Amino acid sequence: MKTEHIKTTDSNYMDLLRSTVRSIEPYVPILPFEVLADNLGRPIQEIIKLDANENLYGPSSLVRDALADLDYPHIYPDPENRALRKALSDFIGIPSENIFAGAGADEIIDLIMRLFIDQGDKIIDCPPTFGMYSFDAAVNGAETVVIERKDDFTLDLEAIVEAVSVYAPKLLFLTSPNNPDGGLISDEELHTLLALPIIVILDEAYIEFAGIENSRIDWVLEHENLIVLRTFSKWAGLAGLRVGYGAFSVGLLKELWKIKQPYNVSVAATEAALVSLDDSVNLLQVVSEIRSERKRLSQMLSELPFVFPYPSHGNFVLCQVKGISALELHQALSAEGILVRYFDKPRLRDHIRISVGLSHHTDVLETILSRISTE
Ligand SMILES: Cc1ncc(COP(=O)(O)O)c(C=O)c1O
Repeated sequence: MKTEHIKTTDSNYMDLLRSTVRSIEPYVPILPFEVLADNLGRPIQEIIKLDANENLYGPSSLVRDALADLDYPHIYPDPENRALRKALSDFIGIPSENIFAGAGADEIIDLIMRLFIDQGDKIIDCPPTFGMYSFDAAVNGAETVVIERKDDFTLDLEAIVEAVSVYAPKLLFLTSPNNPDGGLISDEELHTLLALPIIVILDEAYIEFAGIENSRIDWVLEHENLIVLRTFSKWAGLAGLRVGYGAFSVGLLKELWKIKQPYNVSVAATEAALVSLDDSVNLLQVVSEIRSERKRLSQMLSELPFVFPYPSHGNFVLCQVKGISALELHQALSAEGILVRYFDKPRLRDHIRISVGLSHHTDVLETILSRISTE
């Protein structure tokens, strides 16, 4: 068959894009740490980064040694992540055939969308919450049914139940502790939602800071429609290495294996996760220090006249700002080299979220906030 070379202008090429992609708002990337430092005219070591719920206590000291000593970085990783899944099985106490490893919980959220979503299918998102659920829904062509949380950031159960019957969504995303407020979902709420004809994804990225006894990861053994996500980014301080995991019913996981990229978790990330699990006693000791620091940070904040912290089970504290503008407070702190999270979103415009840092970070924050309160 004769093919003709068709001259195509740029705009014709743009017509080839998926319509879903064209309708998504342009991506606004976060600035990397070194660019932020540069913008603020300070060396990176002087920046106190409390804006992304990272673990500023860092990884286990064994991780750096293990990474320097990798035997086979030139060989592709195990596509089935057998060693990591086995170690996770021992750590969590559920069989490795229920466990899936990913390049962060983020990758698994996207994979879940790819597993379930046909164009125009619906998911339920309960904002204010982690932004990736609605983002990945849009990328994968799903419509998001928004069920706002109540004023105290708890779930609006009645509205969710109603939305399930009206819109027949496929997926419901829940977060416990929730980002940004740090609230937990109760067992009663979870039972009610699991009884609905929907896949429930329970994101437990911060569960270690709530106390591991609050995890419901083993419920996947009893509930075929439950998926629980966890990560090494927070408690184990491996955010930069990208490794997370999910617990699924065996039936669902069989389907997920079909669509995963073979080498999704790098050799370095796998090794770092394995070493972290070996050193979990020490890392969980650090988690308990972070919980104590959270208490101190919340206490310090509650004594200020213009910030009102919410009780949190995560490694962060959400505060309502009253009497001054949250945006201006965020900017004033940035000017001092302290980065906190400001949300330019409905319901959160008068809020900031502060990650729990090291003890001296809380001290510096206290000094600067006290100064601002007397200005
Ligand atoms: C609720 C929640 N889930 C998942 C993630 C991302 O986890 P990961 O780093 O494993 O992709 C975050 C990161 O901030 C989060 O807040």
